[in-house]
Amino acid sequence: MTDIKYDPVRVHDPSANKGIKGQNFLKFDIDCDLERLDDEICMAMAKDDSAKVPSGRHPTYGTPVSPTGMYPGRPGMDQVFSPELDKAIQDKRDEFDHPERFRKYLMYRGFQNAPWSLIVNVKPNISRRPEGDPYSDIINIMPYTKQVLESLPMKHLGRVVILGSNADTIVPCHRDEPPSNHAKNHINFTPGGARPIYLYDCPTETKHYLPKDHIFHAYNISDYHGVDAMPRFSYTVRVDGTYEDGIL
Ligand SMILES: [Fe+2]
Repeated sequence: MTDIKYDPVRVHDPSANKGIKGQNFLKFDIDCDLERLDDEICMAMAKDDSAKVPSGRHPTYGTPVSPTGMYPGRPGMDQVFSPELDKAIQDKRDEFDHPERFRKYLMYRGFQNAPWSLIVNVKPNISRRPEGDPYSDIINIMPYTKQVLESLPMKHLGRVVILGSNADTIVPCHRDEPPSNHAKNHINFTPGGARPIYLYDCPTETKHYLPKDHIFHAYNISDYHGVDAMPRFSYTVRVDGTYEDGIL
């Protein structure tokens, strides 16, 4: 068990959003066939068994907090280490040969929930290098997606991950990182159509929604953000990397 630092991600900070380049969202104009992209990604997710149950817990900072008054979702893995979780349940950890399976068990028992119903690592970045690690095998059935990924205005593609939500579930409002003007370089995209992704500004208690035409977009991930429920499964492809010069 790693020590959990009590960082601003875990402690509510009501300061105003920092934004990205002085605005809420950046829009990227990427020339691609969204229907073909969406179909290829959905086919790959259906055929591939590598979808994971998210931990809901940052390896360093623990489960992020939500702003006052915003529904925080169900607890993440932090609860595994909290005295509130029955010791008998905690002790079962050793009966699972992989943390993923233990997470599934906690979810099925109702002790935690995952804001993302699935995570597919298309290109992991365990090594945390700018160029990330090699693509996972799933890329072999996603040739068009690979082409689109490599057309993005990035010098390096670090991590590529598909984050999916089931119908009628929310991604609770949270920050990925402590508030900063230097948010991580990334491009997110939603080939299946716009999702109700929002930034939440604490001083004005306002949700600022991503405009529907921002299929390829970025925002400051250190600002509070979340996703409202949709009446169907929906997903975002998140690409972390290094922007080409001139983007910021
Ligand atoms: Fe996030």
